[in-house]
Amino acid sequence: MRMNVSLIQQVSFAQLCRFAALLSLTLAVPLDARAAEPNWAKIEGRNITLFSPATMSWERLFTPRGHSGQKEYREGKNCLVCHGDIDEKEMGKHLVKAGGYIEPRPIADKPGWIVAKVKTAHDAENFYIQVEFDEGAQPNAQMDKDFETKVAVILDDGSVPEASRAGCWMACHSNMASMSASPTITATKYLPESRVSMGSAGGDQIKPEADLAKLREAGNYLEYWQGRLKADGTVSVVDGTILEKRSENAKPVVTATAKKTGTTWTVTFARKKIAGRPHKDIKPGKTYPIAIAIHAGFTAQRYHYVSLERKLVLDSGKADFVAALQK
Ligand code: HEC
Repeated sequence: MRMNVSLIQQVSFAQLCRFAALLSLTLAVPLDARAAEPNWAKIEGRNITLFSPATMSWERLFTPRGHSGQKEYREGKNCLVCHGDIDEKEMGKHLVKAGGYIEPRPIADKPGWIVAKVKTAHDAENFYIQVEFDEGAQPNAQMDKDFETKVAVILDDGSVPEASRAGCWMACHSNMASMSASPTITATKYLPESRVSMGSAGGDQIKPEADLAKLREAGNYLEYWQGRLKADGTVSVVDGTILEKRSENAKPVVTATAKKTGTTWTVTFARKKIAGRPHKDIKPGKTYPIAIAIHAGFTAQRYHYVSLERKLVLDSGKADFVAALQK
């Protein structure tokens, strides 16, 4: 907070007014206009690999003979234990052009994986996450006309038990748009708990609203953020939740900036640690399952790179990302 005060003393009243006008006009508030942005150069990054999942849905991972790890997963082993920092690149290379049952509609010349350097920090009010990655030579898939690249964060606070073990996969099902061969299917991400029952293609019947309300009340949903990027660094942000579907919040509280140098993007998200429901409180002493996804080369839907389930803590603890307090 000390930094806050000294910065405010330096800016004139006119500058403050301009800043206020800017705040009300833009969806994505530039982070450099905020007093408290961390000094990223001093923060150590953690590299993680994101890979193309093709159509390897939750159901396919648990189809008999569909996945060598299914028995051990059921017995308690998490995805990360078997694959994390081990074979993500190999999986991505294989899956992106697997053909047949696994990747029926591949994008020619698409790279199979991306390495992202992730930095996290927090201050008195905000949590920050920076994702830096070289997306390499991405063919233009022309699926998303507006946005070249999109970066998403999925976050939980421990309320969704499976999220700490399987990350994104528990929200990814065979009966979602582009996962199924049927063009009439438009379903978005959902959690198995939101369905009356789950079968080999996911679950079609959504639980009654009263049941969903109870799940929401218990925090049994995932929070997501997405920064939609243009080559000139323009970024628009959406945030929302995933329970019976992906629902965008009417007004995002997450802000983001983006910068592209060559084929390398640096994308920084920020939000208040305590932002009110449906946003999850981010506070010390808790472990937060977190996963990152990147759409590159004007892609949409399943044509993205995804991370396995990672963990975030504030201040100290055992996790992939330990966000230090900025003073
Ligand atoms: C006990 C270890 C183990 C666990 C736990 C495990 N897997 Fe696997 N997984 C394997 C093995 C072994 C293979 C087959 C070898 C391969 O194809 O890489 C595999 C294959 C895969 C593939 C297909 C790779 C390809 O190239 O075709 C994906 C995707 C995958 N696993 C994701 C996951 C996810 C997501 C989870 C958690 C829900 C998970 N795995 C849990 C061991 C495991």
